[in-house]
Amino acid sequence: MPDTLPPVLNTARLRLRAFTQDDAAALFRVFSDEEVVRFWSNGAWTDMAQAGKMIEETLQAYREGGLSRYAIALAETDELIGICNLRGFFEQNRRCELGYALGSAHWGRGYAFEALEALLGHAFSALDMNRIEADIDPRNEASARLLERLGFRFEGTMPERWFVHGEFADTAFYGLLRRYWNERLLSRSSVDAAG
Ligand SMILES: CC(C)(COP(=O)(O)OP(=O)(O)OC[C@H]1O[C@@H](n2cnc3c(N)ncnc32)[C@H](O)[C@@H]1OP(=O)(O)O)[C@@H](O)C(=O)NCCC(=O)NCCS
Repeated sequence: MPDTLPPVLNTARLRLRAFTQDDAAALFRVFSDEEVVRFWSNGAWTDMAQAGKMIEETLQAYREGGLSRYAIALAETDELIGICNLRGFFEQNRRCELGYALGSAHWGRGYAFEALEALLGHAFSALDMNRIEADIDPRNEASARLLERLGFRFEGTMPERWFVHGEFADTAFYGLLRRYWNERLLSRSSVDAAG
């Protein structure tokens, strides 16, 4: 069993927790869906062994570091409905990269926002990050909307950075600084106080 599990992060409806071997079937449901991987860096999974491989890679990372990956699970049932992770930690500069995916049956309910708000809060407080980056396909409108609602700012495009699904795809690059995050929290609490 891994010895450096990430801490559980609880939200109103979700539980962000470490992966377990029991998550394989639910994980396969997420990544075998063409809709979910439309703008992902790999094609849809076709073999349950691919879920086992992601779980193994994640458990290894809990032991060795370098990747902090969470299962996004429903608080009520503990069923995995998606994943989110921080990777590419650069300690000196206190920055890392964010990644996330949610099963398509769960889109449009605010779960991704709720999960990432908890993960980012953890990254800025417990992990003391100053900057978090996200690299998305510019055509991925749901993802761009999600990042902007979280306070990320668009920083530019890098053309033909990926070759996936038989075509070159661009990167839209987003950054979230600790000060943007704090500003958003402050403006939200003043709205709450006024309301
Ligand atoms: C990117 C992705 C996670 C976004 O999921 P999502 O469900 O659209 O995002 P949210 O969970 O924040 O939900 C937002 C929507 O839920 C609605 N919603 C319903 N209840 C809500 C609540 N309580 N709180 C917030 N939003 C709520 C909002 O109106 C919003 O809809 P809108 O954006 O059309 O206005 C999802 O599309 C996905 O997994 N895509 C595939 C993987 C991927 O592309 N990952 C990114 C590449 S790195």
